[in-house]
This record gives sequence, C-alpha cells and structure tokens, in this order.
Amino acid sequence: MTISIDQVLREDRSFPPSSEFSSQANLQSEEDYKRLWNFAKDEPETFWAEQASKYLKWEKTWDQVLVEKENCHFEWFVGGTLNACTNCVDRHLKDRGDKTAILWEGEPGETRALTYRDLHKEICKFANVLTKLGVSERDVVTIYMPMVPELLIAMLACARIGAMHNVVFAGFSAQALQERINNSRTKVVVTADGGFRKGKSLPLKATVDESLKQADTVEKVVVLKRTNAEISMTAGRDFWWMDLMEKASEHHKAKAFDAEHPLFLLYTSGSTGKPKGILHTTGGYLLGATFSMQMIFDLKEEDIFWCTADAGWVTGHSYVTYGPLSAGATVVIYEGSPNFPDFGRFWKIVEKHKVSILYTAPTAIRAFMREGKKWPESYDLSSLRLLGTVGEPINPEAWIWYREVIGGKRCPIVDTWWQTETGGILIAPLPGISATHPGSASVPFFGVVAEVVDEKGKALPPNKGGFLVIRKPWPNMLRGIYGDGKRYREQYWSQIPGSYFTGDSARRDAEGNFWIMGRVDDVINVSGHRLSTMEIESSLVSHTAVAEAAVVGKPDPIKGEALSCFVILKDGQKKSEGLVEELKQHVALQIGALARPSELCLVDSLPKTRSGKIMRRVLRALASGEKISGDLSTLED
Ligand code: PRX
Repeated sequence: MTISIDQVLREDRSFPPSSEFSSQANLQSEEDYKRLWNFAKDEPETFWAEQASKYLKWEKTWDQVLVEKENCHFEWFVGGTLNACTNCVDRHLKDRGDKTAILWEGEPGETRALTYRDLHKEICKFANVLTKLGVSERDVVTIYMPMVPELLIAMLACARIGAMHNVVFAGFSAQALQERINNSRTKVVVTADGGFRKGKSLPLKATVDESLKQADTVEKVVVLKRTNAEISMTAGRDFWWMDLMEKASEHHKAKAFDAEHPLFLLYTSGSTGKPKGILHTTGGYLLGATFSMQMIFDLKEEDIFWCTADAGWVTGHSYVTYGPLSAGATVVIYEGSPNFPDFGRFWKIVEKHKVSILYTAPTAIRAFMREGKKWPESYDLSSLRLLGTVGEPINPEAWIWYREVIGGKRCPIVDTWWQTETGGILIAPLPGISATHPGSASVPFFGVVAEVVDEKGKALPPNKGGFLVIRKPWPNMLRGIYGDGKRYREQYWSQIPGSYFTGDSARRDAEGNFWIMGRVDDVINVSGHRLSTMEIESSLVSHTAVAEAAVVGKPDPIKGEALSCFVILKDGQKKSEGLVEELKQHVALQIGALARPSELCLVDSLPKTRSGKIMRRVLRALASGEKISGDLSTLED
C-alpha cells in the first residue's frame, strides 16, 4: 500500500476552554496535565498500574503490568483478578445503591428508571438464568435486542459469570446474524419479540428464527417481551425472559476472573468480505473505558450522561455500558429513532432527563442541522455542559452548529477518535485543558503514542498526510480476531512492522493536533457504521443476475459516505430499473438496511488495470462526479 494524501481542508478556528468549565474540570491545570502526560509517556507501566488501582476494584493485584507475547499479542495486568460486572454495579451499592443507573425511554414514550440496586438484582437473576441454561465461563452468548435495559442486563450478566457476550446490532439481517452466531460458536441467543423503530416493530425473533435454521451450536434462546408481536416459540429451545426470571434467585456471588479473561466479542467490518470478531478482555478494557470516562467526559457524580449509540456497536459497549457504569454514572438510554415522531425527539429527551453530557455521531448532527434550529430551540437545553462526537470525521460546519445551537457556545466539544479495536477513546481533547478545533480530534490520550507515518513507517513532518499508527500497546487494545490469528497479524501488525495499523489516514498539525482524514483500506464509513466494500460486493455477486460488482464510497452530506455500486450483469440479463431496486434490496436483506446502496449503476465494463485489479480511484471519481485525473496509463479499458 502506498500513500499520497493531501488535505484540502484548512481550519484555523480555535476554542480554548472557558474559565467556567476549566475551574470545575476533573483536570484543570496545564501543569497537572503535563505531569500526567509525561508520566504516562516515560513510565507507562507505573502510570497504568496507578490508574488501575485508583479506578478499578481488584480481587487480586497483578504480578506484571504488561507482558509482550508472541505474534504481536500483549497482555495487561497479568496475574490480577477482577469481575467486570461487580466493578460496574456491586461496588456502587454501598454509596450509590439508590442512585439511578439507567434512565430509559422507549420509542413510544414510556420511561423506566433503574437504581444501581435494581440493576444489581436483575443482573444477579439473569446470571442465575444463564447458568441454569448451561452457560459457563468462556461460552458465547449472542445478544440481538432493541435498546432496552435488559440488553445491558444481559451483557453484564455474561460478564458476571465469565461468559463472552457477542452483541449483534438489531438492524442486521438474518444472514449477517447467522454468520456471527456461527463464527462465534454461540451457545445461547438472547433476543426480544421485537423492538420499536420509527414507529414500527422490528421482527427480531423472526429474524433469529431464520438465522437459526443453520446454526448448530445454539442450544437455547431467551426471548424478552417488548412489542407483543406475534412470534413462534420452539419448545425446548425458546424460553420467555419473564418466565425464567420469575423463578431465578436474586442472589449471585460473583467470582473474580483473570485480567485477561475474555469479556466480549464484537464483529466489525474489515477489508475482506468476512466480518471479524474483535476480542476484548477484562482488566485492560475496563480500565480504558473507566479512565477515559472520567478524563475525557469530565464525569461528575451528578451528571446525566447520554451516549446515543446502540449497544450493538463498540460505542454502546464502552460509553453506554462499561465506562459510565464502572464510573458510577447515570446513563440515559433511548430505544428508537432520533426523528420519531419528529426531529425534536433528542432535544425533548435532553430537556426531560436534564442530560448534562451528550455524546453522539456527526451523521446525526448533520441530519438535525438540515432540519433547522427550530427543533432544538423549542426545548430547554441548558442542562448540557459537555458535548462529544464519535464515529467519523466531523465537518467544521456541523461542529460549529453543534457548538452554537446545541451547546449554546458554552459547552466544550470532545471529538473522540477510536475504533472497535482500540476499545476506548485514543485521541481526543481534554475538555478543561485543550483548545478545540472544528474537525480535529485533537491530541492523543494519556499513554497513547500516535503518529502519522509514510508507507515505510517513517514519521512524517507536520501537515503531511499519511497513515495513522499507534506505536506502543495500550491497556484496552484488542486481543485478537476470534479464531483468526493470521488475519490479526496481517491486518494490524504487518503494514508497519512493530506498530498497530489503524487503517485510517491523518495529518498532525504543527501544534500536535490530529486531523483524521478517513480510511485507507476498503472500509467505508456510512453514517458512522463501518462497512467493507468487499462484503457488499460479495453480496451483490451472490445474486443470480450479477457477474461482477465494484463498490466505492461517495461523499454524502448527511451520511458522510454513501455506497455507490457498479454492477456488470451476466450474459442474457436485461438492464432495468426494477433490477436496480431488486439488487439494492438484495444487499439490504443479506446484510441489513444500513448497507442498502444509495446508488447502483448497471455498467458494461469496469475500469481495470492490466493485471485485472479494479481501479477504485476512477470509480470514486465517477461516483462523486469529479474529473478523472492522475495516471491512467495502467488502465486496460
Ligand atoms: O475511520 C475511523 C472512524 O471510525 C473508524 C472506526 O469505526 P468503528 O470500529 O465502527 O468504531 C466507531 C466508534 C469508535 C475509525 O477507523 N472514526 C471514529 N471516530 C472518529 C473517526 N473518524 C474521524 N474522527 C473521529 N472522531
């Protein structure tokens, strides 16, 4: 892979934190910040050991902080033992037992509040349910649920008994779910009869049934009643959540697990057609989530924290579930769509629950921006004190709108860069310290050695675009790709030997701020969701009418990037509008509605090099209506 990246965007606006914000921040003085930063840089192991003792409750302290193993594997807090669930719940019972842990709102409008004590009781019961169903340590439980408190209860119950959860976003199709169930060798599936989205009920149980037609490892299915949809239950395999919980004891003594005990799998797209199961383990992951929660979100006891991500994505793992609960926060969870019944929904939730920290995606901000100020201006947003973004680069225009219209010019914005693989935020401003710049994720977090390099791994001078790499291991880094050590090494550690390859391009400015420019591999970021072009291509060619397909990302004002597909039909197939629609629908059915192509062109040939490689650069230019430039000498047709 070679790189030549120029950034056209130049953004000079800078917003230092206000003195009001800084004076109350968890980290307020430049000296404290520099001291911590240098401590983390110079003595990373001592630094992380100190944070691990301060932020987590261990049953047994570790013998070694960091151990480098063979094949690019790293282990943290080796010999230490803890339980991720008791860190998130039990340890708060004494001082925060009656504090609200979860403030939930369903799409139709009902609300529920669970205190830490309530949450503890439900988790203990569900841990007993899982054990009774035969789930033991290291077994995989796939969770395919709407955003309801039971989703978090199921995740934390798995953590409590040392089983791995594998949450699959409820927008994925039966086939995508089946692939994830089979790849992870899932033993038990937890789902619901349905979930509400845009006023409709999603047929979750029916999708699970379809996926289980070819999934031999699954023994039991637990079904939560949510929408009262009519569903079928298979005797001996399927059980109602309610029935199992009714009989379960609320007492459960949790056992401590090794710091490197697997905590969860989460599938994400890479540059091949097959999604990969990213593996995270217990101690390092939980530390990263908890520590970043305190520092980057400047968490206070009285904060009402709302991260709008679904638990089907990593953001919902680290900043809806583990980070905030481990830190003892109150989290808001909303089941449905941001524009249901109208574009005021988010702001109504902020007003109603007095949200103080809001963490959302640029695609949502752009969608709200398009609808105008009238929606947010109809609600009282004065409870907000800090805003965050994640998932994709934010354009300065949306950033400024977020700051002015949502944040009333008083809330700092933390633009946080990270990935499923990194487990938690790695690049972000510290809100009481850093000046923020619209469109920049700012500076590496404590202990993170990020650099922009050329294809040989040489650090580039300021303002030169290149590959973003992480030079040193960090506690919440992925521990592997489930069942595929070779792919793990190739994907992350072979591009720039000795460094973790993020797959992103970036530049660093003269002040040290990072400006993320997007993916350099075949991954597309649609509305903050990672999709692999090859996954879409293989879905298209699985249709009987298709001979060949190429998929590229095209800039989109709301989604960031949209899918643009070029398809060659098999001999004898007739081009028609109907077929275009059918192919789009085919992809949506195979992968999920989020992967439905925006554009699909039936073409007679694809631009290829003489060696047969599709020239995506040419297709990207075609899709975005740009002039095709650059060296075309290798183009065959
Ligand atoms: O390209 C980067 C983009 O999202 C990718 C990671 O996607 P995923 O694993 O699904 O995790 C998303 C939530 C953490 C990255 O490789 N990305 C994430 N955050 C940002 C971003 N791009 C620019 N700025 C960000 N703040």
